[in-house]
Amino acid sequence: MFLTYSKGISGNFRKSETEVSVTAPQHLKGELMQVRSSIAATVLASAMILPMAAPALAAPDQPSRSQAVEKKDTLRWVAPQDLKIGTAVAGGGHHETQPYPAPFTFDQEYRQRLAAEFSSVSPENQSKWEFVHPEHNTYRFAEMDAIVQFAQENKQVVRGHTLFWHSQNPAWLEEGNFSKDELRAILKDHIQTVVGRYAGKIQQWDVANEIFNEDGTLRTTDNIWIRELGPEIIADAFRWAHEADPKAKLFFNDYGVEGINAKSNAYLDLIPKLQAQGVPVDGFAIQGHLSTRYGFPGDLQANLQRFDALGLETAITEIDVRMDVAAGTTPTDAQLATQASYYQRALEACVSVEECNSFTIWGFTDKYSWVPVFFSGEGEATVMWNDFTRKPAYYALQDTLEQASSGRGNR
Ligand code: XIL
Repeated sequence: MFLTYSKGISGNFRKSETEVSVTAPQHLKGELMQVRSSIAATVLASAMILPMAAPALAAPDQPSRSQAVEKKDTLRWVAPQDLKIGTAVAGGGHHETQPYPAPFTFDQEYRQRLAAEFSSVSPENQSKWEFVHPEHNTYRFAEMDAIVQFAQENKQVVRGHTLFWHSQNPAWLEEGNFSKDELRAILKDHIQTVVGRYAGKIQQWDVANEIFNEDGTLRTTDNIWIRELGPEIIADAFRWAHEADPKAKLFFNDYGVEGINAKSNAYLDLIPKLQAQGVPVDGFAIQGHLSTRYGFPGDLQANLQRFDALGLETAITEIDVRMDVAAGTTPTDAQLATQASYYQRALEACVSVEECNSFTIWGFTDKYSWVPVFFSGEGEATVMWNDFTRKPAYYALQDTLEQASSGRGNR
């Protein structure tokens, strides 16, 4: 199942699900159905072979001189010690409709940058239900295992994503006509199995993703768990995750909650109620998929602050800043400057809030960004060009981190 994203009223996007439509660039549309069935075949094939097998990954090459990233000239080096600077790890999802299904496994320059620049990594798709649990009794862990191992080797933390969502669920689950008891058991088993496997190795889990509609009502129609089992199941998801990994910090995560609005108000209302019942919720995460079409959400810091004031951790988990780009053209200097200012302001908002401890960009190179595939006519949303050279947005982040380090007491 694919998502389409369309513009939001006040903010950055509204997402709606459709059966088949993908707002992919015109030239890709014809290929999508065909590629999708081959994905299903690949998932099935690898699910049969892979569950416990070691991932078939090439060892990273030694960086050549031209590719080597100077250690001190990176985001993670200049970041304050108490702030993780992260990225999504490309693979699965839309990548499978592209000519490069799993960049993390083969693109050596990508891997070098991933290791050098970031202190946190988030699987872009590799721990989502449809990826990690493709059949009822089959888990597929090889890719997530490889990411966790990579993170450990490179002294990075991992953000797990996600356990309870309305999207990217496998057909066997969505179309299974399970009884309430069966569904509850399926969710519990999934959470215990996935969280348990990586216990002690995940810093933060996005336990529940996107549970509210834009008007602040719960997604009682498209979220299978809430629809079938009622809102109380949200608390159980957090409890089961906590049992499986008492050390992981457990988050709600959503888009369109950058500013103070009906949806972010709904979280502000819900989380203390859950905590009062003893439900282990540690944090509130803002995805941050921004577009220069809609302006920067100037109340981001104030919004983070009010969650911080509840004693919660906060995080920016998926930021990218897309812009209008006509096919075959490159962004203007003015567009790049606007993009850089959005990244900078978002990071400044996070570093200004005491317990905002994690700032993750949703991919670091346009080479693999999901944006042009999902947002027709928009793109160039990340901080590096296709060839990994740095955009003004990269330098804006680097400078902001450097300044924050003096303020936040780094080295
Ligand atoms: C996106 C991935 O980047 C794509 O590869 C995939 O095809 C669809 O999902 N909110 C989320 C993320 O929580 O998981 C989504 O990631 C982007 C929106």
